[in-house]
Amino acid sequence: MKILATRRYPGPAFDELETVEVGPLEPRDDVEVLVVANEPVDASLFPSLRLVANFGVGYDRIGVEGLAHRGVAVTNTPGVLDAATADLTWALILAVRRRIVEGDQRVREGEWHGSWADGFLAEELTGSTLGIIGLGRIGSAVARRAEGFELRVLSTRRSGGTPLDDLLAASDIVTVHAPLTPETHGLLDARRLSLLRDGACLVNTARGEIIDEDALVAELVSGRIRAGLDVFAHEPHVPEALLSLPNVVLTPHLGSGTRQTREAMTRLVVDNILALQTGNPLVTEVKAGV
Ligand code: 8YV
Repeated sequence: MKILATRRYPGPAFDELETVEVGPLEPRDDVEVLVVANEPVDASLFPSLRLVANFGVGYDRIGVEGLAHRGVAVTNTPGVLDAATADLTWALILAVRRRIVEGDQRVREGEWHGSWADGFLAEELTGSTLGIIGLGRIGSAVARRAEGFELRVLSTRRSGGTPLDDLLAASDIVTVHAPLTPETHGLLDARRLSLLRDGACLVNTARGEIIDEDALVAELVSGRIRAGLDVFAHEPHVPEALLSLPNVVLTPHLGSGTRQTREAMTRLVVDNILALQTGNPLVTEVKAGV
């Protein structure tokens, strides 16, 4: 079974794929399985295609519906990256809320001249209100970690939970954990961002397109809110205006980026391919239309 992978994915499990080639998504008659990291797949280039195994939980760019119409299955890697993504979310919350990157910069630039008893103050974390947009697997892992910081937690879910506008207005920290779908594209638009409290901290480790990036940049340039951003609307492009702002911490899509998690993601990708090869049910199949 010919397998084409867009890169060598990390970890020993990848070596179990005996018939894998690493290369670009160029037309191939013989390829039955593609391994991608959320790259768009044009199934017409691969007439023998049976499975697209996505290295990642989010599959918003792959085109699941079109593939389903051609009888091509899609799998993803849910679950194994929840802890790593929740940890990075907390790293950003702490960094933004306690001004860690700004502090680091001041030390490096020789701008620490003695006690800052009355200056360079941050906002307390303990006792504040955390709003979680999307209480799924990753959002729930973020919520569990919030208990240790004694936060009050509000959340939106697919059904029920706090209405989004109320959550935005009532939270000191808002963190996004929804999948990118037509319903969540641009969910945090200019009107909704304006509901955030002055000084609120917005964290996004989900997908950049869930927030109207121009409106977010405008809010950040005005200095009204603070943000920790791991994802952007047009990665790897980061809006120029953000690069010089002290009230935003920027990371390059690192949510699942620990060695252990990335290796577990490869394991799951490979387990799905082995299931196809042996005629067993796929382990983590994405259902079209869900
Ligand atoms: C990326 C992710 O897939 O799981 C997701 O949805 O966005 C990440 O895990 C990973 O960074 C590889 O690009």
